[in-house]
Amino acid sequence: MTASDVKIQIEKVYKIFGDRPDDAIAELRAGAQKTEVLQKTGCVVGLKDIDFSIRNGETFVIMGLSGSGKSTLIRHFNRLIEPTAGRILVGGRNIMEMNAKELLAFRRNGISMVFQRFGLLPHQTVLENTICGPILQGVNRREAVALGMEQLELVGLKGFENRFPRQLSGGMQQRVGLARALATKADVLLMDEAFSALDPLIKSDMQEQLKDIQARLKKTIIFITHDLDEALHLGDRIAILKDGELRQVGTGEEILFRPADDYVERFVRKVDLSRAMYAHEAFTKVPVLTSAEATPERSAALLREHPGVVVTNGVAPRLLARGATGEAIAVASVDAGAAIGQCFPLLAAQDAILVTEGGAATGMLTREMAFKALARSARPV
Ligand SMILES: Nc1ncnc2c1ncn2[C@@H]1O[C@H](COP(=O)(O)OP(=O)(O)O)[C@@H](O)[C@H]1O
Ligand SMILES: [Mg+2]
Repeated sequence: MTASDVKIQIEKVYKIFGDRPDDAIAELRAGAQKTEVLQKTGCVVGLKDIDFSIRNGETFVIMGLSGSGKSTLIRHFNRLIEPTAGRILVGGRNIMEMNAKELLAFRRNGISMVFQRFGLLPHQTVLENTICGPILQGVNRREAVALGMEQLELVGLKGFENRFPRQLSGGMQQRVGLARALATKADVLLMDEAFSALDPLIKSDMQEQLKDIQARLKKTIIFITHDLDEALHLGDRIAILKDGELRQVGTGEEILFRPADDYVERFVRKVDLSRAMYAHEAFTKVPVLTSAEATPERSAALLREHPGVVVTNGVAPRLLARGATGEAIAVASVDAGAAIGQCFPLLAAQDAILVTEGGAATGMLTREMAFKALARSARPV
């Protein structure tokens, strides 16, 4: 990782709550655990020697059980909490060296937050809530409104701008929270358990929407969750915290298949692989032809090289699979982001299904491909 790829750098950060932070750090450095430090010094260890960096444009998930230090850590990134020891650099700047004015500007323009409990102003409309960031930034009202409407459209709330938060469901309120954070144009988004209070179905809708938005906007997103499925689904990389200590930082695959220690291993053991693997990890891209191009000769030639050919006619894409004679047939399709487990019911009914990326069919998934992908990643028992 080169310096310009790094957005946030956390260097040897300790956070001690209590009156004897120096003694507590000395105990920790001598190898004491969180409970011992509490007994000996009366101090609570929030974070212990945290050292890692977050890349520009990645979705970085911080996960751990309740009390592991997730909120304490994320609040360091905008200096809502100051470290007891260590340094935090955002965009190469040591945020502890910012004066009050610089810090205010940084919080208004550089970094924005989405809260678990939405944090909307109840007596202001959806639009007013959305544009409070730009207004504070000094953007004129007309521009702020245009910007706010744009963000509301992005999160699927066009038409709701004059409602009040209480008139919206929880999922919709959190969409406003997201629109409000996006409206500041900050390139870092902090999301502390932003979806944890939502019902499972709404939560999964929000995850998809966040992925779509992130694919377009490429923010640096720091997303906290205690839900491993959510972490695996959203995170480019995941950090696992326990008792204020960083146990592992890695991709979902690294965490699942190369856990750094027993704790992480126990943590991930219960993951259902069929939900943690996605169609894009298993499918095969195949040539895409229009129906005019898909002459029998051309199709046959391509099928000698590829397991299938997608035939599009402007309406529904069809699949011509190797071994099957005759016409391309209409089959079910899934998005490349679908979990393998979601593909199984379709694959039970059909030998192969289409896989779409960004709405366009680009490949196919067979039973065998899905099964092999799972087999490749299965941990030995
Ligand atoms: N202001 C505070 N004063 C004392 N202890 C705190 C304070 N804030 C957090 N803690 C303690 O720090 C630890 C980490 O808390 P927190 O970051 O809120 O965890 P999480 O967000 O992972 O649930 C916990 O042991 C918690 O009790
Ligand atoms: Mg928390």
